[in-house]
Amino acid sequence: MNPYVPGQPATPDTFAGREAVLRRTEEALELARRLRRNSAILLSGYRGSGKTSVLRKIEAVTLAARPDAIVVEIPLRIHSSEDRLLASVVQEVARQLEGRAGAGERLRTFLARVHGLSIAGTGITVGASSAVRPTSGLAVWRECIESLPVGGILLVCVDDAELLDSSGLGALKTVAETHGGVAIVLVVSGGVELADRLAQPDTSPIARVFSAGRFDIGELSPPETAEALNAPIRAATLDGGWSTDAIALVHRLSRGYPFLVQCLAHASFVEGATVDAARVQAAIPVALVVGGSWLERECASASDEDIRVFAKIADVGRPRLRSSEILSLGIQSPYIGRLVRQKILKKISRGQYELRKAPVIAYYHALARGLRLG
Ligand SMILES: Nc1ncnc2c1ncn2[C@@H]1O[C@H](COP(=O)(O)OP(=O)(O)OP(=O)(O)O)[C@@H](O)[C@H]1O
Ligand SMILES: [Mg+2]
Repeated sequence: MNPYVPGQPATPDTFAGREAVLRRTEEALELARRLRRNSAILLSGYRGSGKTSVLRKIEAVTLAARPDAIVVEIPLRIHSSEDRLLASVVQEVARQLEGRAGAGERLRTFLARVHGLSIAGTGITVGASSAVRPTSGLAVWRECIESLPVGGILLVCVDDAELLDSSGLGALKTVAETHGGVAIVLVVSGGVELADRLAQPDTSPIARVFSAGRFDIGELSPPETAEALNAPIRAATLDGGWSTDAIALVHRLSRGYPFLVQCLAHASFVEGATVDAARVQAAIPVALVVGGSWLERECASASDEDIRVFAKIADVGRPRLRSSEILSLGIQSPYIGRLVRQKILKKISRGQYELRKAPVIAYYHALARGLRLG
């Protein structure tokens, strides 16, 4: 059996690291319990950096601390407005509560009403077919909060929130600032596009909601990489392990980017043996095939030099860079223009650039082409 599944979010027992986010989660749960205070956490990261994995871990931590918590995850797959987001949350809350013992009269009435909640096209309706009436996301959300048991916790996780339109972004603020009998913990994840939109002046009231809890989900540190390699073996109670050199090599090749760590781990693992560095080295071609379904097509037409320069910029470890910083890496101005045309960099204002493509793409292609990076 191979316990590494590249591309699938980590399960709570194979999850490694991210201590700062988990500490913030514990604080949020404590604030909810003691003071019935709401909290909001924003996770941003490139594709494959581990955002969904963090959400799943937060959900598990919440349920472990508060088995009575209502935990909903809204994975956005299409562009969504306020109406759609709020109605989806309500639908999911209702699904969770369906069949829970001890529902009070108010909650039972609410559940009966939203049983017929439907989100079709642009409209939302509630009620059984004979008495269907239109409503709004905001109205069902308010009704939902008013009917939830006093003193409880509602965890709302919104994944891939770059798919929210501007009214949908506004709905995040609504959720975070709704006060009722339950304390709400809102966790939102999204890519760099989301961070960009929240940096615009007109969204600053929404961004402020997350001011005490913004986290960049990026590469794993060497000890976190070790944990990401060891935890799946432990969780599946398999025999086997990783030598210190093998762990160091996986970290060096992947730079700690979780998806690439999983690809290398999947390709190198042998049940019942300790994986050493030579085994990791020999498994690189298989790891590249495993990761290829996503990464091969990205930057396929980039030259080796483009990949080297991309990796150099990625190594800085921050999505935003000033042009002077890029120049100080030994990258000339015309080259910056070339990377902009390839959509690796984006100019966001005078002298400010943003790395738009996930760093793991550079590290993947460096491996595939046998490039030596600094
Ligand atoms: N903390 C972690 N510990 C161990 N493995 C992780 C961790 N985070 C992510 N991974 C691994 O990295 C890969 C990508 O994780 P995940 O799907 O959570 O990323 P994502 O940011 O949600 O990606 P996408 O942008 O495609 O939605 C998965 O194979 C997952 O197992
Ligand atoms: Mg995801």
